[in-house]
Amino acid sequence: MFFMRIIAIANQKGGVGKTTLSFHLSVLLAERNFNILVIDMDPQGNLTYTFQVELPETAFSYNLFEREDPIPFTVEIKGHKLNIIGSDIRLSRFEADTRFENFFKLKKYLKDKEYDFVVIDTPPSLGLFTANSLVAADYVIIPVDLSVYSVFGLQDLLETLEKIGEYAGKSPKILGIVIMGQLRRTIMGKTLSKGLEDEYRDLILGELSYSVKLKEAVALGKPVWDHSPRNKVGREFKSILEKIIERVEVG
Ligand SMILES: Nc1ncnc2c1ncn2[C@@H]1O[C@H](COP(=O)(O)OP(=O)(O)OP(=O)(O)O)[C@@H](O)[C@H]1O
Ligand SMILES: [Mg+2]
Repeated sequence: MFFMRIIAIANQKGGVGKTTLSFHLSVLLAERNFNILVIDMDPQGNLTYTFQVELPETAFSYNLFEREDPIPFTVEIKGHKLNIIGSDIRLSRFEADTRFENFFKLKKYLKDKEYDFVVIDTPPSLGLFTANSLVAADYVIIPVDLSVYSVFGLQDLLETLEKIGEYAGKSPKILGIVIMGQLRRTIMGKTLSKGLEDEYRDLILGELSYSVKLKEAVALGKPVWDHSPRNKVGREFKSILEKIIERVEVG
């Protein structure tokens, strides 16, 4: 029996680490020799930029909203293949076209595909592109930072998931929450992290340390465990991602 697992990384709050997490999850899955498709649904195109490849027109996600299906472009990272549907600002042209059928474009596109995993990076909004991703996904991972806005964002996202369940008949299972690195653990940060733990204990997959090496790695298009092999953030990241893969494989 063939199982394709579709994972969306979402939080409408900006800058919480969605793209960083999408990139590292994709690379780890490729390193484990899974056949994977990475989709950038953010008009900012940050994930696409991180892969540092020039994609043909056909490999952009805006094609989903035009007549043609996108055609993934295959890149090789250290001998491991990765299929990419990228994004750039052209996707934003479709943002306001919220006809009912437009919410199902990604789900429809993925219906007959045969990858082991699909990883979808979403923009910092709960608009059409995030909705498409959540409607298509089997699982959602929610990166958060430790700010009140992030906690509000989490509550809004959980409500959105409920609505998607109502309208689309099914909503993705929440795989977990990842607390992305904080520069300094302020009292406020500690209070928030305790609040998150009290409220969502079973959902918290782990917490990443703050590391400039992680920023550098992403800028260089490398996973942090390659860019800075001795840095603990690489080990923390891998252990969180392994938990994610394990939870998905269990189902
Ligand atoms: N653990 C960490 N340590 C240091 N910097 C981090 C960490 N996690 C994420 N960052 C940095 O935070 C910034 C935002 O991360 P990222 O782009 O992944 O967030 P995002 O949620 O995708 O943003 P957007 O909402 O704009 O798409 C980046 O500069 C990234 O390098
Ligand atoms: Mg991003």
